[in-house]
Amino acid sequence: MIVTLDGPAGSGKSTTAWQLASRLGVEMLDTGAMYRGITAKALDRGIDIATEPHAVIELARSSEVRFDWTQQPPRLWVGRRDMTDRLRDHDVTNWVSDVSSMPAIRHVMVKAQRRIASEHPRLVTEGRDQGSVVFPDADAKFYLDASPQVRAKRRADQLRAAGKPVDLDQIREAIILRDRKDAARKDGPLICPEDAQRIDTSDMTSEQVVDFLAQRVRALVEVE
Ligand code: DC
Repeated sequence: MIVTLDGPAGSGKSTTAWQLASRLGVEMLDTGAMYRGITAKALDRGIDIATEPHAVIELARSSEVRFDWTQQPPRLWVGRRDMTDRLRDHDVTNWVSDVSSMPAIRHVMVKAQRRIASEHPRLVTEGRDQGSVVFPDADAKFYLDASPQVRAKRRADQLRAAGKPVDLDQIREAIILRDRKDAARKDGPLICPEDAQRIDTSDMTSEQVVDFLAQRVRALVEVE
């Protein structure tokens, strides 16, 4: 059983996917974390992402990206390094769209995501292209959205909770810029798949979103 959750940054996908997966008793795949992991490792290696795309691609091809599902929430490893604590840092957030817009990187990640799904076939997976490209035959597809202001506030709350510095205007601008880049790229752009249900979460609590999705999934798929 594969459930896809796509949508822009701050639409509530991560929290929702996490809670939905635990409600359904299945695993959760955070594909944004995979792109962030490669970005973080490239930055930590001193690779200049703008001028050395080949070095980033080489890094992605030579380092396995995997989750340690024994930890809650799962840890993300890139090669031999646990990158989990770097994933939400500003430099990673600023560069990740450039990395995720490289077709060769997407190719490596899509393959890795399908491999993970074959090993964990009961999965809620979240990202930008999960229903459109990676799992076109998913059992249930959703597209979550929310206004840029609401999304920026959610991201700010997440950062604050992680003890990171917060500038709401800067976050909102970064979100708008990233959406534009994510939607404009040729390969795996951010789109709502035709067969996905679109949900505006601006005025919903995360519990309401999860309740709604769990009900829909149960209606569409047999979940024990
Ligand atoms: O959901 P997030 O903010 O962690 O995603 C980080 C970046 O990775 C974002 O710029 C979009 C990109 N991404 C992508 O291109 N495809 C995915 N399946 C998931 C994320």
